[in-house]
Amino acid sequence: MLIGVPRESAKGERRVAASPKSVAQLVKLGYGVAVEEGAGAAASFPDSQYVEAGADVVSRQAAWGADVVTKIDAPTDAEIKLLRKGAVLVSLVAAPRSPELLKKLSKAGVTVLAMDSVPRISRAQALDVISSMANIAGYRAVIEAANVFGSFFTGQVTAAGKVPPAKVFVSGAGVAGLAAIGAARALGAIVRATDIRAAVAEQVESMGADFVGVEAESQESADGYAKEASEDYAAAAARMYAEQVKDVDIVVTTAQIPGKTAPRLLTEEMVASMRPGSVVVDMAAGTGGNVAGSKPDQLVVTAGGVTIIGYTDLAGRMPTQASNLFAQNIVNFLKLATPGKDGELVLDQEDVVVRGMTVVLDGEVTWPPPPVSVSAAPAAPPPEPAGAGGGETASGKKKRDPRVTWTVLGVCAAALLALFWVSPAGLLGHFMVFMLAVVVGYYVIGNVSHSLHTPLMSVTNAISGIIVVGSLAGLTQSQHEGRTDIAILVLSVAGILLASINVFGGFTVTQRMLKMFQKG
Ligand code: NAI
Repeated sequence: MLIGVPRESAKGERRVAASPKSVAQLVKLGYGVAVEEGAGAAASFPDSQYVEAGADVVSRQAAWGADVVTKIDAPTDAEIKLLRKGAVLVSLVAAPRSPELLKKLSKAGVTVLAMDSVPRISRAQALDVISSMANIAGYRAVIEAANVFGSFFTGQVTAAGKVPPAKVFVSGAGVAGLAAIGAARALGAIVRATDIRAAVAEQVESMGADFVGVEAESQESADGYAKEASEDYAAAAARMYAEQVKDVDIVVTTAQIPGKTAPRLLTEEMVASMRPGSVVVDMAAGTGGNVAGSKPDQLVVTAGGVTIIGYTDLAGRMPTQASNLFAQNIVNFLKLATPGKDGELVLDQEDVVVRGMTVVLDGEVTWPPPPVSVSAAPAAPPPEPAGAGGGETASGKKKRDPRVTWTVLGVCAAALLALFWVSPAGLLGHFMVFMLAVVVGYYVIGNVSHSLHTPLMSVTNAISGIIVVGSLAGLTQSQHEGRTDIAILVLSVAGILLASINVFGGFTVTQRMLKMFQKG
């Protein structure tokens, strides 16, 4: 089958539905690829790169006349006429808001797969353009804010004095919100974030931001998604926003509930209370707006000197990256729909992902699809089995019988007493120090995060060096007045052996870690 990639016609659209890299992957799947002349120019993909990857560069008519047409934006009336009967169109459709478009497409007798109707289930994540684009848009929102903000994001100490870091507040910690947090942190700002779902606090904190909660019950449905705010929540949230916006320099709002108009979060008074020079990016400006005064696709400066950015094409403002991800999402879909890797598209309507995306099938409108059970809630841990000793823990490990634990502890204590009994008086002091070091070391290392254990092991080389020196001194002490003190000899040899293992093991691990950072 032939895949056509026409040039986008929407005003200001610089993305393209195929990249040279994706073309090579489509050719591997057995498809022929026809790219319209100049289709990738605005995304920095010249025609020559498509040809190198295995595509033909063709006229507009030829690209639209292919068996499968892949594009970014929904087609215009004129473009629908260029599709041939029986063709398959893969693009954004906005099916819930476009009943007229669906009718026109069904009249044209085509099949339409909406990339924005991919069900949000784990198996379909690789196809999810909404998430790919939201990720880019969240990053770009911060870059747009930085572009108009009159100061540094990061704090600096200069010869002329100190510059404090900018403070950024992100509302809604979904895909776009988390990307915005990451970008603002990377630029060096102090970042705070909130979300109607208290469960995302951990994700916010893992990105290096502080989570600002609302003194009201978390508004989360049983499947883990946000639900519309109750009056109590909205009132408490308004108090929190009123306090925060006065303190921060930049606000990025990304709050949305799927299928609903964006919730209004910042009122005119709140915006007016912000310092002159502050910036607000309302990412939901195109779906109702989170911020009073934001206008879709416009940059507004209020009388109080606050800039409100309402761009709805944030992902498209990074056309190369956005095209790469969009094209990869399409390839991932075609991998799923080309089981024989023979360039033949198979639209299995029993597959929930394919069914969810199919909004028109052979000229028949098939939207909406049957509901798919999706969940954003973390999986509940399996229940602990009843019964005292010897059972299984949630992680599947055998629970130790307490009687066994006590017996082992008893035997160890008896062995220690016996050792004290036979040891010379000088050894006892050393032994006490050793035991205390074991206890302190256990608690110190136990509190170090697992991810830091490898570097920690490298650092313990130094301690091992001290142990080796101490043990060598012990070896000389084991020989006095012509006698050999067996206990000191054994402990010294054991000390040298164990510490040497740590030294050489540490060097090996360090070497491996360094290799991970070497290019090539
Ligand atoms: P998402 O569904 O992953 O995240 C939205 C987050 O908002 C969720 O975590 C939800 O719990 C939270 N939320 C809902 N109501 C809230 C409230 N009242 N207060 C605080 N948090 C609330 O959505 P995604 O993909 O991150 O997109 C976010 C927004 O960005 C959407 O409005 C989307 O349309 C928009 N968007 C805008 C673009 C642009 O160019 N301007 C590009 C891409 C997305």
